[in-house]
Amino acid sequence: MTTTETYEMLIDGKWRAAADSATFASINPFDGESWAQIPTATNSDVDDAVTAARRAFEEGPWATSTPLQRATLLRRFGDLIKDNADELARIQVLENGKLIREVAGQTIALANHCYFFAGVAESPLGETLASSVPNMQVFTVREPIGVVAAITPWNSPLALLLWKLCPALAAGNTVVIKPSEVTPVSTLVLARLIQEAGFPDGVVNVVTGAGPVGAALSEHHGVDKIAFTGSTAVGKKIAVTAAERLARVSLELGGKSPNIVFPDADLAGAVNGVIAGIFAATGQTCMAGSRVLVHEDVYDEFAKALATRTENIRLGDPLDPDTEMGTVACKSQFDKVLSYIEVAKSEGAQLLTGGSRPEDPGLAKGLFVRPTVFGNVTNDMRIAREEVFGPVAVLIKFRDEDDAVRIANDTVFGLAAGVWTRDVARAHRMVRRLRAGSVWVNNYRKTNYVAPFGGFKESGIGRENGFHAIEEYTEVKTAWIDTGNTITDPFNPRA
Ligand code: NAI
Ligand code: MG
Repeated sequence: MTTTETYEMLIDGKWRAAADSATFASINPFDGESWAQIPTATNSDVDDAVTAARRAFEEGPWATSTPLQRATLLRRFGDLIKDNADELARIQVLENGKLIREVAGQTIALANHCYFFAGVAESPLGETLASSVPNMQVFTVREPIGVVAAITPWNSPLALLLWKLCPALAAGNTVVIKPSEVTPVSTLVLARLIQEAGFPDGVVNVVTGAGPVGAALSEHHGVDKIAFTGSTAVGKKIAVTAAERLARVSLELGGKSPNIVFPDADLAGAVNGVIAGIFAATGQTCMAGSRVLVHEDVYDEFAKALATRTENIRLGDPLDPDTEMGTVACKSQFDKVLSYIEVAKSEGAQLLTGGSRPEDPGLAKGLFVRPTVFGNVTNDMRIAREEVFGPVAVLIKFRDEDDAVRIANDTVFGLAAGVWTRDVARAHRMVRRLRAGSVWVNNYRKTNYVAPFGGFKESGIGRENGFHAIEEYTEVKTAWIDTGNTITDPFNPRA
């Protein structure tokens, strides 16, 4: 990409620059080139977006839309994503350096996400209650919450946006999106498709900029609910901001997920699964299996096989389908990953492979970090406790099942966990004993629109995907209908 294109924000159905015309650059992490300019929204732009979303929620065609109308728009949106998947995938790769072969499949699959939530829009969401109160018919309805702020990260910018957008729209909310400053363009291009699908003006708005724009949006009293994916530190700030006015929140935050290898596992399969769990997306996923717990009987064999395969992972241009690992997404994240490698070394972890930038001069302009494995790590080290969000696996030895459970659960996080075993009874026991929102057995990192996803403990609040997601975007209203027809004087029942 040689030309620098200037993008605009979508507010109330119109494309526009920031009120003060300020912009920032999008940098391709593979070649270091700036290839797009994006507006930095001012507080007045944020206010306009929230006001537009509020108006669209309360008046106009969206406020009176039927479930079928919303479902039809979501299906059209899904079709448009499918038709434009190549472009949407390519832009995400230019923004965050993830592999085209991973992003392409993920992007096409987003159409199914839209189709599923189109179905949810028309699904029965209320209940008729068995009332023991005489002459009362009692039922519930689920109503939209109102204006939703969707604040998203850079690692899977469109998928993590759709996890919020689809249920929010299915339920009849309106939305103001604030994408990550690392990956704003993919969201702005997606917003064109939202418009093309025919969603009324103001139903979906996009404001761009860095953290302060997200903060202005979450502090806005016109926002009824904040849906956030990102760091635990910012998630906690958003929870505090929301608490001031009791705005609803759902938070999908960090992790330090254990991937546990028992001696009875298919070890070759487990090596592949552990590699996919930590090195896919260059380790930049909330659910990364970054703590690899290995039984002492197979530790040496497993560590050797893992280090050998890791050593041979092919780094390169993320747009090349033969590349196995791309770059880290942005300079600040790159610095953070390298600093954690130093932390691990200084704590006495044993470097088995990686631990530096690659030597290949062809990769010198890119934010590459060699896939890294540390052995002999103990769970009290910082490298085992803090989220790196990069291609760094740590190996921790365990003695038996109880020991594995104790180490696995000894973390402030609780997003995900993996278990590798051929013992069915052990698999079921582990699923129950691990304190995490998702547990995979003999696999890792699978998600789907039907399956709720979210964290225990400091990994978040609420669940995305599946029918559970609709609960995050609706209020329950209870209706009491008197079927007895005579209301007596409450103070003088005989009158
Ligand atoms: P971040 O949490 O700062 O950013 C996520 C989103 O929140 C972005 O859109 C950002 O502009 C916005 N934001 C930042 N400060 C805000 C504030 N005070 N109020 C409202 N919105 C705000 O994440 P960042 O800086 O991109 O990455 C830092 C670390 O966060 C990573 O190293 C990783 O550990 C973690 N992270 C976790 C993700 C996950 O999927 N759970 C995704 C991205 C980052
Ligand atoms: Mg940040």
